[in-house]
Amino acid sequence: MSDQAQGLRVLAGRVRDHAHAARPAAAAARARSSAPEAPVPGIALVNGRLHASRIRSAPPRRARVVAVTSGKGGVGKSNLSANLSIALGRRGRRVVVLDADIGLANTHILLGAAPPYSLEHVIAGTKSIRDVLHAVTANVHLLAGGGGIANIGCLTPPHRTALLGGLRDLDTVCDLMLIDTGAGVERNVVAFLCAVNEVIVVTTPEPTAIANAYATVKIVSQQNPAARMMLVVNMVNSSSEGAAVSSRLNAITRQFLDREVEYAGCIPLDPAVPRAIRQRIPFVSCMPRCAAAAGIDKIVRRLGLAGDAPRPSSIEGFLSSVQRCIKSNKEALFDASIANP
Ligand SMILES: Nc1ncnc2c1ncn2[C@@H]1O[C@H](COP(=O)(O)OP(=O)(O)OP(=O)(O)O)[C@@H](O)[C@H]1O
Ligand SMILES: [Mg+2]
Repeated sequence: MSDQAQGLRVLAGRVRDHAHAARPAAAAARARSSAPEAPVPGIALVNGRLHASRIRSAPPRRARVVAVTSGKGGVGKSNLSANLSIALGRRGRRVVVLDADIGLANTHILLGAAPPYSLEHVIAGTKSIRDVLHAVTANVHLLAGGGGIANIGCLTPPHRTALLGGLRDLDTVCDLMLIDTGAGVERNVVAFLCAVNEVIVVTTPEPTAIANAYATVKIVSQQNPAARMMLVVNMVNSSSEGAAVSSRLNAITRQFLDREVEYAGCIPLDPAVPRAIRQRIPFVSCMPRCAAAAGIDKIVRRLGLAGDAPRPSSIEGFLSSVQRCIKSNKEALFDASIANP
């Protein structure tokens, strides 16, 4: 409760409560937004959270783990993560969104949620992972990273065991974990990118954002060459602009990295996005026919995220990998320079 992120969550929760009281229509819209999903066998929701005693775990399987990242900040990672999760939930995928942005965690606001607990509580042993999972809709849960993410590299053995046990549990209750990372190539972000099998790099058409996206692609290519890398171009004026950005980036990655980034599609610059944020409802729910929602729909189809991964990660393996990467002193990781392709 003492960290800044938690403080923001509490603050946002107050704002939301106020907004609900003042705008019953918005609350009704939120209720409608979760209506299309069928209840998922094995997951019971009580008062917005998974209820431990009522959970029947699905058969053991491995979840798909996908990081959503960017070189430059403010390009739309959190909006993409939030809206993708809702869109996938509607298609019957059980999704956990991990807000792994240490400094500026705000995915919960976009999802209209105020999770009271975070991974920090799991690490401290005061809450189980299922207590911390916060239900957004029947199929979508939010896992707030909180200060737990910052400390992931220096956990003591008992704390690591607590977190590992919790994450192992996640493998059985979700099909896909979407990790909303911070921007840039600092150690904690890169650790996530090294640990997953799939990375979505978000950029806008601005040259600075494209240059920084290249820096991210370079690091992933070097440190996690087997990862599937995908590109989403956000805030485009036309779909041809999105395709042109992809061609430009891929021309550089082919030349200097000898690899390509899969083009996953684009999302138009759409006034519905900030409007939905102000309502604290994902735009795919409150404005499902807006241009941005159509973009999300195409991205889901293009990426095949609504299906099983050809090579699923395991969430347990993912944590070990994150820890290894943060601990190991791979300074070369952080030397990536845009000016020096
Ligand atoms: N398609 C869009 N159309 C219009 N505005 C958008 C669109 N996508 C994002 N935005 C605006 O851009 C801002 C940043 O979006 P978002 O918070 O998702 O970015 P981010 O990459 O997660 O940022 P950070 O790096 O700080 O985590 C938001 O305030 C939102 O209003
Ligand atoms: Mg963000």
